[in-house]
Amino acid sequence: MIKKLILISVAFVLGLVVLAVAFLGLRGPTIATPSSIAVEMSPKNLERGKYLYENLMHCDGCHGQNDYTRFASPVLPGRSGAGQVFPKEMGLPGTIVASNITPDSDTGLGRWTDGEKLRAVREGISKDGRPLFPMMPYTYYRKMTDDDAYALVAYMNSLPAVRNGLPKTSIDFPVSLMIKGVPQPVVPVKDIDRRNTVKYGEYLVTLGGCVECHTPQVRGRLVADKHFSGGRMFNVGFARVVSANITRNDESGIGRWTETQFIEKFAQYRGYAEKGSPKVSNDDFTLMAWVNYARLPDEDLRAIYNYLRTQPAIYNAVDSHPDKPAKR
Ligand code: HEC
Ligand code: HEC
Repeated sequence: MIKKLILISVAFVLGLVVLAVAFLGLRGPTIATPSSIAVEMSPKNLERGKYLYENLMHCDGCHGQNDYTRFASPVLPGRSGAGQVFPKEMGLPGTIVASNITPDSDTGLGRWTDGEKLRAVREGISKDGRPLFPMMPYTYYRKMTDDDAYALVAYMNSLPAVRNGLPKTSIDFPVSLMIKGVPQPVVPVKDIDRRNTVKYGEYLVTLGGCVECHTPQVRGRLVADKHFSGGRMFNVGFARVVSANITRNDESGIGRWTETQFIEKFAQYRGYAEKGSPKVSNDDFTLMAWVNYARLPDEDLRAIYNYLRTQPAIYNAVDSHPDKPAKR
């Protein structure tokens, strides 16, 4: 009798465990129906979209095929949005593929509606309802204003179609289950008041994903009290680079930089943005998109500086180019 009771209760507990696993596995992400909007392909949208895509948000950092032999890895001619498989050395949980986001019908987004593109970018849901790996910065992009999101999609629609078939992303267990809760439907986001420079700067920093690169991570999560203090190591196989401390800490951050110096630091690369950037050795490799950011207008750079000044000063001494022979 007792044996039987034990067996029944064991079976019951096992049943619960199976149910729990099945629930977690089957539970889909929160998915909203894509909007039926067709974005306006106006010159204004295309210009704003180009700025967002190429400069502030630098989509090609992940989705482009880039020339890693030149300073700040400019995109190769005709390969904008073509997509790439990230190298193993980056230590990602699985094979992560930045999709072909050009309008090619077979290998890109040619058959997607604008609503589906908007949903992927801001909500993290692919056309088929699959949750996207959050390395795609949709948790930041969900803060994008509706008008900016429409402009971005208009520009994506105008990219030359590139035929480039890629493998599918395959995310390791259990990360594959854990990311299901990340996508979220967006609520409409209204325009940002540019006169409030700190708020406007916060918006730019969010779209630029600055905190993501400039914060150390533990198991894929940003360390909460180390935001903007740098020290995140990027190993791309042939080279390594460590993000800088951009807090207003005096010794290890950019505390001593004036607003003018900050703007100058970016503006110095405006020539490269015009004429192309020079070859560099692997020791000077960087993922900081200096040449793309060089086209940020002074107004935007000023706002970014002002927002960064409102963030806590954190001491964290960083060597950005650890493989560079020490200077004598
Ligand atoms: C830090 C790298 C990174 C940046 C920056 C980035 N993406 Fe992505 N994006 C990805 C990855 C990785 C995926 C694929 C995720 C997956 O397959 O789960 C993706 C997926 C997408 C998808 C969905 C494609 C599909 O087949 O489901 C779209 C659309 C997209 N990105 C557009 C953009 C746009 C537009 C920008 C710039 C505003 C951008 N991405 C910036 C990494 C990035
Ligand atoms: C893809 C990752 C990445 C993103 C996104 C990124 N950075 Fe960086 N950043 C780096 C790395 C790596 C370095 C250090 C190497 C170098 O200076 O090129 C760096 C360096 C810097 C420096 C130089 C600091 C110094 O002490 O010389 C500043 C300033 C900076 N970033 C600001 C920003 C701002 C503002 C944003 C957002 C608009 C941003 N970064 C986005 C990776 C990134």
